[in-house]
Amino acid sequence: MNKFPKGFLWGASTSAYQFEGFIKEGGKVPSTMDLYEYKESYPKNVTGFSDASGHYKMWKEDVKMMAEMGLKSYRFSISWPRIIKNKDGEINQEGLKFYTDLIDDLIKNGIEPIVTIFHFDIPMFVMEDGGVLNQNFVKHFEVYSKVLFEAFGEKIKYWLTINELNILVLMAHGFEILEKQDFEKQIKVMHNLNVAQAKAIILCKKKCPSAKIGPAPNIAAVYPSTSKPEDYTAKLNMDIIRNWVYLDAVCKGVYNNVFLTYMKKMGIKFEPTKEEMETIKNGKPDFIAFNYYSTLTVKMPSNEDSLKNKEKADQQTGLVVPGFAMADQNPNLQKTQFGWEIDPIGFRNTLREVYDRYHLPMMITENGIGARDVLEKDGSIHDDYRIEYYQKHIEQMAEAISDGVEMIGYMPWSAVDLVSTHEGISKRYGFIYVNRDEFDLKDMKRFKKDSYYWYKKLIEENGKNF
Ligand code: BG6
Repeated sequence: MNKFPKGFLWGASTSAYQFEGFIKEGGKVPSTMDLYEYKESYPKNVTGFSDASGHYKMWKEDVKMMAEMGLKSYRFSISWPRIIKNKDGEINQEGLKFYTDLIDDLIKNGIEPIVTIFHFDIPMFVMEDGGVLNQNFVKHFEVYSKVLFEAFGEKIKYWLTINELNILVLMAHGFEILEKQDFEKQIKVMHNLNVAQAKAIILCKKKCPSAKIGPAPNIAAVYPSTSKPEDYTAKLNMDIIRNWVYLDAVCKGVYNNVFLTYMKKMGIKFEPTKEEMETIKNGKPDFIAFNYYSTLTVKMPSNEDSLKNKEKADQQTGLVVPGFAMADQNPNLQKTQFGWEIDPIGFRNTLREVYDRYHLPMMITENGIGARDVLEKDGSIHDDYRIEYYQKHIEQMAEAISDGVEMIGYMPWSAVDLVSTHEGISKRYGFIYVNRDEFDLKDMKRFKKDSYYWYKKLIEENGKNF
């Protein structure tokens, strides 16, 4: 029996700053991501985002290839700095036109456009006005969201608020939001993002009553490293700080009490106003979208371990919360070439857990494997490891559906090769290869990988055979 419902949104994902390039064209103003590569901590051997995959000029060709692949949906982000020019909210008409043309072309090709309002690229005028830490952020985000709902409200059925709100908070120092790790400031960032998100949800319901809107965090089921009871406590702790505090806020309208108590114990002041909490309560989503790459395994940190939080950490690895939980290796899992654990069964577990907690329909807005793909002389790319990765994850998603989980769609990362958040273009994710290297832009020509043909067939059969 086919587990996937009729009309299931098989698709793929991208984000503006990683895909578009041409950062100085079309009236776009500077964003945090334009400056990212000049940061001291940004690796010197990989490219930044100035050129990316050139999608800003090659979008027609990209949509054509996506349509040929049979995509039913395409999740992309609108670039905030392409739409709003300054802190007075002046609109860049050229930016609006770019996305209008893109959306119209997707619809013409039978592809459902699924829009992320904000995916990591904060306009510099917002940063200069106090950044995410300042309450002005909420106002700027509201102005921007309103422009999008008014311009595209009739065409977009599914909106996503903020990509990986939880990772923006946990890695705030890596995203130019904060200068260094600082829990007190991170909590303020989280709260501002939550209020901004709630306001966007409320506005969306008012302006686009037939559309649906949801958050898009990065969620990972958490395993205790051992069967020691204290490691299970660490698992519960990490669950809260990595997953639930954000989803509880948007879906239930409350801040998790264990989280609040931990903050108090750490001497961190956090006093949301009544009015802000009222906004958060009123901004409930219609569905949950989330990104899944892997699970997390944690143990209870010793005092000595707690000092290790200066070590390298990213979305999936290395997180340490002093006295609360710390990431550990899982010896049962294989890793990608870039060191991220691969856990398809963990995908089923994560889907089950999120559904059990919130009882909302779900869509996956990212899932995939970053790898050093090789372009052969004849233009083929044999990415059998990617096919295997997707086979195993889709199989487990089918299991989750047969467990009773309600799924709307699956949009793996990424539709086309793009620049990774911190590991360059060599960490490729796409079904479509882009002919460029870290610092040699070559011709940016697109090539179909083996996974492209495999996914096309899977979509044709609505996931009957993986
Ligand atoms: C997610 C982000 O965290 O992971 C994407 O939403 C990102 O923007 C993706 O590209 C993969 O991570 P990375 O670091 O390999 O690019």
